[in-house]
Amino acid sequence: MPEEINKNTQIKRKDFIYDVFISYRRSDGLYPTYLLYRNLMDNGYLSFFDKVSIQGGMFPPQLTNAIHNSKDFILLVTPDTFSKRIFKKDDWVRQEIETALKTEGLNILVLFLDKVNYPKKLPKEIDAIRDCHSEPIGDVFDVNDYQKRLFNRFLVSRPRPKDCIDYKGRWSIYEFDFTNESERLKSQGSRYDDENQRILDMYLDKNNYTVLDVGCAQGYVTRQAFRKAKYTKVVGIDISESAIEQANKNNKNSKFSFYQLNIESPTFMEEMQGIMKQKGIKGFDVVSCFLVLHHLTNPEKALENLKALMNKGGMIIVRGSDDGSKISYGDDELIEKVLKKSYSLEGMSDRNNGRKLYSWLVHEGFNKVKMHCTVTETSHMSYEEKLGLYKVSFAYRLNYFKAQLIANENEQTKAEFNEMEDLLTQLQYRFSRNDFWYAVNRFVCVGFKK
Ligand SMILES: C[S@@+](CC[C@H](N)C(=O)[O-])C[C@H]1O[C@@H](n2cnc3c(N)ncnc32)[C@H](O)[C@@H]1O
Repeated sequence: MPEEINKNTQIKRKDFIYDVFISYRRSDGLYPTYLLYRNLMDNGYLSFFDKVSIQGGMFPPQLTNAIHNSKDFILLVTPDTFSKRIFKKDDWVRQEIETALKTEGLNILVLFLDKVNYPKKLPKEIDAIRDCHSEPIGDVFDVNDYQKRLFNRFLVSRPRPKDCIDYKGRWSIYEFDFTNESERLKSQGSRYDDENQRILDMYLDKNNYTVLDVGCAQGYVTRQAFRKAKYTKVVGIDISESAIEQANKNNKNSKFSFYQLNIESPTFMEEMQGIMKQKGIKGFDVVSCFLVLHHLTNPEKALENLKALMNKGGMIIVRGSDDGSKISYGDDELIEKVLKKSYSLEGMSDRNNGRKLYSWLVHEGFNKVKMHCTVTETSHMSYEEKLGLYKVSFAYRLNYFKAQLIANENEQTKAEFNEMEDLLTQLQYRFSRNDFWYAVNRFVCVGFKK
């Protein structure tokens, strides 16, 4: 590897961990950046995209380090990139540009989305960005020729052979703030309450259990699952600020407390230990994680962290779902089409996570791991019941397409939204027919800390 000393920062640029660092404004650049990232990765450029490359939250030392250890720096300019925030010294986009400009030997390429351009005035510390080479990014969905030629011409990195790229990043664009998501989670949670009680009671027959519920959303399932007196201190955490706001507002029982926390943040363990100290909890007897792992970039790492917070003998209970367990008859293969369409969308969470839970717990060293499966099927269900099942299993998927459309409205995203909406409308009708049959398996896995 070549070694260079950066004169301004005295940083040794030797390892070149990344080929390309991508800088962008989150407010309107997340989605196009993700497409650019995937395109770079697919073409053999090992790239840094904070959402995937940092496990959890963002923080400046990791960003600075990543910029110093990249060969190329791409600034993806969207309408918000040079908004007023750029004039604040602590703005991260500004800090990234400043760091890049100071990093000797770093090749900087500016890519403009659509008709965006530089503003008249920029802070003097980053004004030199104007002198860097710039190009239009073209159609973000054009993942083939144009962008590939751009990479070839304007990046100093050369594509790596495909098998060199450790493409770990899964990513989900899921937001608790999706339309009707709070209501959907309540409806979904009430469907599996009996099952939770049955499984929890099967293993937990003593008193004074401390509980951690990870990804608790608005706390509905947390309060249902752990309402019995044997659970004495119950902590719920969730990445979503608005979910935690709702959880605290709805909470009338002092044994429950809710905190906004990202389980994938590098500071997660520290923050969690702070909460435990404050609550007088040495370790958790029960950790639950209901329908959350598939939204994480590294579920196994999250399980490892959770295990470290548990008491010896403590129980973990994780719930997953799995599209592969959905079978039906009388829908003219519509379900298959809906699922296929779902998977075509970048940022759809891993919908086949149910089958993976057992291995994940075994890999993390849990003891006596047991998968509990329960089938839900539609014979004898009323139309309302069937409609409810359709909503929690399928209708919400349109939210992902809506998020894509909001992030990047163009002919293609509009067409994809419309196509998904159309498939779902047809499917809803099938659920109303009395000769239509549908079944789905539910997956709950438990394990114990040795
Ligand atoms: C499908 S919901 C499930 C909510 C609840 N457990 C239930 O069963 O109804 C997934 C939840 O996980 C949360 N979540 C996603 N990523 C997270 C992370 N990195 N750390 C903490 N919570 C996360 C989301 O905000 C959301 O509330």
